[in-house]
Amino acid sequence: LAKYPKNTIVQRPIVAAHRGVPSMAPENTMAGYRLAYDLGADQIETDLQLTKDGHIIIMHDTTVDRTTNGKGAVRDLTLEEIRQLDAGSKFGEEFAGEKVPTFKEFLQEFKGKDVILLIELKDVDIEEQAIREIKEAGMVDQVVLQSFDLGSMVKSFELHPEIPVGYLYSAAVPGTQSAKIKNAQKMMDYGTNYNVTLNASYGSTYKEFIQYMRQRGMLTMHWTFREEAPFRDKLAEGLIGPITDYMQWLTDSPINL
Ligand code: G3P
Ligand code: CA
Repeated sequence: LAKYPKNTIVQRPIVAAHRGVPSMAPENTMAGYRLAYDLGADQIETDLQLTKDGHIIIMHDTTVDRTTNGKGAVRDLTLEEIRQLDAGSKFGEEFAGEKVPTFKEFLQEFKGKDVILLIELKDVDIEEQAIREIKEAGMVDQVVLQSFDLGSMVKSFELHPEIPVGYLYSAAVPGTQSAKIKNAQKMMDYGTNYNVTLNASYGSTYKEFIQYMRQRGMLTMHWTFREEAPFRDKLAEGLIGPITDYMQWLTDSPINL
């Protein structure tokens, strides 16, 4: 999963559909995920948060304001309140009635299908419950967890070492460079014992890093391609794992490495 066998010749990129296919369907909805799967996504990326009453739902922002017809922080709303919301209409009337997915619903939809779920832990203290729900669904071998929080990743692989994890690195996110680089180095050290990787923003990625990770046999996913020129340039440099809003770039013109 997070690793691929050394010396494997990767015939084509391993593509993650970021929040589904937000260029074609409302982000983080079941309609978007199904579309991503139908367009041939290798991985589907998604964001987890906890409701007021302790259920895991899928949403990127900490409030429901941008993507639904509701208002307020996810943490201040119950699951029932969140499930009343329309998560499709703002994108387009044809998606009216789409609901904010629960994590369980998302897992069930793709259980046993040929796709990896790239699950970002956005909330604090969500690791244990997320891993429990993954185990209950019998999907330990179909998921990768990722987070910007090193502590969350360490907690995750200590709770369940078999589940691959990816530390999200970017030169651009808040925090001092030296602290982030130290975390990234620690993560690489953990990689000798655990199935861990670094998922760096593509803007913080350069050829040597890509080659280094390939030599180590680690699959690194890079986020988030929203412009086609860098998408194609980076693939030409040898980048294997793009995370993108535009699955159609791949189906329009399959790219060989
Ligand atoms: O997959 C990584 C990427 O999703 C991180 O950024 O803000 O889109 O969650 P964000
Ligand atoms: Ca994300």
